[in-house]
Amino acid sequence: MAIVYNESKKTFSLHTARTTYQFKIGNLNYVKHLYYGATIHDEDLVYLIRQYDRGFSGNPYDSLQERSFSLDAQPQEFTTQQQGDFRINSIEVQNADGSFSFNGRYLSHRFYPGPFTLNGLPTAFAQDDDTVDTVELTIEDAVTKVQVTLLYSVFEEKDIIMRAARVHNGGEGPISLKRIMSFNMDYLNGRDLDLISLPGRYGQERQVERQPLTHHVHKIRSGRGISSHQQNPFIALVEKTTTEDYGACYGFALMYSGSFLAEAELDQYDQARLVMGINDRLFSYEVGPGEDFDTPAVLMTYTHKGLARMSHTYHNFFRSNLNRSRFVKDIRRPILLNTWEAAFFDFDDEKLIEIARAAKDMGVEMIVMDDGWFGKRNDDNSSLGDWYVNEEKIKCGLTQLVRQINDLGMKFGIWFEPEMVSEDSDLFRAHPDWIMEIPGRHAVRSRNQLVLDVGRKEVQDYLIKSINRILDSANIYYVKWDINRAITDLWSNALPAEKQGEVSHRYVLGLYRVMDGIIKTHPDIMFEGCAGGGGRFDPAMLTWFVQYWSSDNTKPLDNLKLHYGSSFLYPVSTMGAHVSVASPMVPLETKAAIAMCGTFGYELDATRLKKKERTICKKMSALYHKYYDLNFFGDYYRLANPFEQVNLVAWETVSKDKSEALVTVVTVQLTVNGPQEYIKCKGLEPNRYYRLEGDGNVLTATGMALMHAGIPIPREIPEFTAFIYHLKAL
Ligand code: GLA
Repeated sequence: MAIVYNESKKTFSLHTARTTYQFKIGNLNYVKHLYYGATIHDEDLVYLIRQYDRGFSGNPYDSLQERSFSLDAQPQEFTTQQQGDFRINSIEVQNADGSFSFNGRYLSHRFYPGPFTLNGLPTAFAQDDDTVDTVELTIEDAVTKVQVTLLYSVFEEKDIIMRAARVHNGGEGPISLKRIMSFNMDYLNGRDLDLISLPGRYGQERQVERQPLTHHVHKIRSGRGISSHQQNPFIALVEKTTTEDYGACYGFALMYSGSFLAEAELDQYDQARLVMGINDRLFSYEVGPGEDFDTPAVLMTYTHKGLARMSHTYHNFFRSNLNRSRFVKDIRRPILLNTWEAAFFDFDDEKLIEIARAAKDMGVEMIVMDDGWFGKRNDDNSSLGDWYVNEEKIKCGLTQLVRQINDLGMKFGIWFEPEMVSEDSDLFRAHPDWIMEIPGRHAVRSRNQLVLDVGRKEVQDYLIKSINRILDSANIYYVKWDINRAITDLWSNALPAEKQGEVSHRYVLGLYRVMDGIIKTHPDIMFEGCAGGGGRFDPAMLTWFVQYWSSDNTKPLDNLKLHYGSSFLYPVSTMGAHVSVASPMVPLETKAAIAMCGTFGYELDATRLKKKERTICKKMSALYHKYYDLNFFGDYYRLANPFEQVNLVAWETVSKDKSEALVTVVTVQLTVNGPQEYIKCKGLEPNRYYRLEGDGNVLTATGMALMHAGIPIPREIPEFTAFIYHLKAL
């Protein structure tokens, strides 16, 4: 049992293999947070909390004359509202009588084996050999009967705790949630914490930023209706001294694909608080009597072994507990060539066949027909929503085209952008009220397209039906599911005025239903997500998509940064990465080595490559397959940080049994007659000998030597050279 409840002390100790999380039903039945960190016993850690009279921080009425009990200074599992805690809060509710207050005290708890599930929202599942236990603890406001149930599922071996909150309206009138976070996390001492986030922009997603936690509210958020290019729903709180290999790290990954919010602050006593959940901006949600509201789940982990260990925990978990598709592990994913950067909108069936023929020579195993195959779509101004084949372009019809590609021994994939509509489309002409547009105003256009009101049931049903019809009409092996704009004009013609604050969240719930209706009903199709690149690359999406297109930016050197940042949370097996013709000064071999840090593929017109170039690609495709298992399922280490002034960027994957490793080194800037550069390996077996090859020299050395002294990188070589070193234990 991963959860131990001590009846007399009223402590709950949640144990994973290497961590303990503890809370307690404390003074006046408030639920106190006591600890999250390395494993301890089940002893009651309440001694950590010293109570003093805190000036200007009030005391709950029933603490009587006891002036030292103030919620403003107490570490808590979830916050109250208007009870004297002035820090960032987890809940803001307007009660049926118009008041804004919530005074949540312990009501009940229950345990059960296995993880919790949420209404309409994705959660992680347990593998057969996982030990997972759940505790649900309910706090209640005695006056309004509003309850919040705090859900904790402990994935023991995986070192992950999944949390979420469920609001239940036990009162007699409707309440309006103005803010409801998925969790609250308090730290008794936050002075030494830094906050790591993954900000970015279109074409430059998931860069890395680290800043000290200070005495103001740090907000990491998306208000774009998608989890966004600009921020990822992940943050880590780490100690100032934490490095890749050492130090405390707390990771928090929110399973939500819409507008989200993370807020962290250092309070007046240098305690820290963090909350994360649905963005409260332009949000309110009515919960009627007897109804529930579920928040998205968050995946938390702790380690004192540095950033690499935190990433490994997430990588392992994402590879085994998010997505049941057989393409995650059991079926090897084919090398694809996507036609977007090859032809944009300018293609027909013959052109696709030509590309496929040439691509076969490069080791390509699947052709993906990107945007432009449907309605009357010849540029990005029309036809979104009209999910039927444009027979002026695909003259032989889809079934026949796929057959011809299959006859070449290749698989076939197709692109959709389900959530959008063009004004110039049959769908818009038939259902102008299906878009999000505020009455009396014109909706914002972006890429000249509008957003469907995906929260609406008839829109969902249309998408499920029209897309499934195409998927069932031919032998389709793969789908790229795109979204190419942010969401604005929050309004649904299907909802009354007082429910318009629900539109953004209902959109996300609707999208998840559409994805269930299409993806879950096609287990033999491999689905990749995309949002103008990686604009909605988040843990929730990975419960449907086995991989996600990382970025529309295929410049290899930019991708070094993008992969580095993404790897904090996302495993190699989830990151779409292609070789393209961008950056002609970078050799094809180097481009391929960089794309091997993700789900390798091509994004170019194979017919335009020279024979010699196709041969290089073939060699690189073969290498990708040779190291597929190592690359996809090994432990990934960041060896050199591309955000620093470095001459080399390097990363490594080590097999779980440490018998094999792959170290990739890319030279980014080298000076004439410069110093000898070394790259130090990580994660090897110290006392084993490894045979290493990759730069023309063969070397045998112990893991110890390779980790502490390193590999000498050849000098006097051109910039943008890549070395792929293979290490094999003897
Ligand atoms: C987005 C995607 C691209 C491509 C285009 C098609 O930008 O990220 O890969 O599919 O849309 O319009």
